[in-house]
Amino acid sequence: MSAREKVLITGGSGMVGKNLVSALDHNRYEVLTPTSLDVDLSDKRSAFNYIDKQRPGIVVHAAGIVGGIQANLAEPIRFLTKNLEIGANTILASLNAGVASLINLSSSCVYPKDIGSNLTEDDILSGKLEPTNEGYALAKITAMRLCDFVRREHPELNYKSVVPCNLYGPWDKFHPKNSHLIPAIIHKVHNANQRQDSQIEIWGDGTARREFMYVADLVDGLAKAVADPCALPDTMNMGLGYDFSIQDYYEAVAGVVGWSGSFTYNLSKPVGMKQKLLNVERQRAWGWQPTTSLVDGIKRTYQFYLKEHAQ
Ligand SMILES: NC(=O)c1ccc[n+]([C@@H]2O[C@H](COP(=O)([O-])OP(=O)(O)OC[C@H]3O[C@@H](n4cnc5c(N)ncnc54)[C@H](OP(=O)(O)O)[C@@H]3O)[C@@H](O)[C@H]2O)c1
Repeated sequence: MSAREKVLITGGSGMVGKNLVSALDHNRYEVLTPTSLDVDLSDKRSAFNYIDKQRPGIVVHAAGIVGGIQANLAEPIRFLTKNLEIGANTILASLNAGVASLINLSSSCVYPKDIGSNLTEDDILSGKLEPTNEGYALAKITAMRLCDFVRREHPELNYKSVVPCNLYGPWDKFHPKNSHLIPAIIHKVHNANQRQDSQIEIWGDGTARREFMYVADLVDGLAKAVADPCALPDTMNMGLGYDFSIQDYYEAVAGVVGWSGSFTYNLSKPVGMKQKLLNVERQRAWGWQPTTSLVDGIKRTYQFYLKEHAQ
């Protein structure tokens, strides 16, 4: 029997990492999922020692300090510096250890704030960033460019970046302090339903649009990339190619939870970009599309929330 290929998933205890572990074929891969206690990737020595010792064939880099708009606004220094360190250390330690392939998870916040839709990979670095998550975005862009520079100096290596749209699903964060939109809505609507509240406040007027992909779809695409990293484009958006308004997300969650009240709008709260919709032509040409509907994705995420978080 031939040896299984060693796959290192950084951020293996996070939402993307945990879902990816389930999606990979463990007969084919030996999967490493160190936590930040096993290896602190923001520490150069720790990152280099771990990756040099393990020498994986491929790294899926999904570690980072990740949070919603409130966390990004509150701690821009940490979001910039920790993510810069984690990105640079992981990529350079992989290069140092002779890792042949690395799939770097970037984020759609790398796109300029003034282009709302049809965001193509060539738009990155063509304009000013959205101020609410600028620190995080700068760190993500730096890691992407580092992958580009690795390929420029070492054309035989597959150091590539995928740019997923917003994600949601099992193992998401549901606490209002660090949650993204959909888990925050689930938590809010669930609590309103428990308390039998008749109204829920939406930040902004509810018309801003967002593209959210169910995380099981993303990791299905990542598993395809792990199986053949050469075929993956150097930089590729991963998304639905369509979006919904914030009001639509509230209504979909209310339908799944079974809450029937009305919404109020707090126009003094920040909502970020009006729209941020990825162009997915490159992804389509690569031969992959997500398949989970919004309602199915929310149903499965709510089941996870009820099991893991709801009191
Ligand atoms: N969530 C989204 O909507 C979304 C959208 C687009 C792109 N992405 C990207 O996808 C990746 C994964 O996101 P996620 O939602 O899965 O994040 P997450 O659930 O917050 O998980 C983050 C992971 O990073 C690890 N980590 C943090 N600091 C570390 C350190 N110093 N050393 C080692 N590991 C460290 C954490 O490990 P510990 O728990 O052990 O600290 C955790 O496993 C990120 O790069 C993110 O930018 C996410």
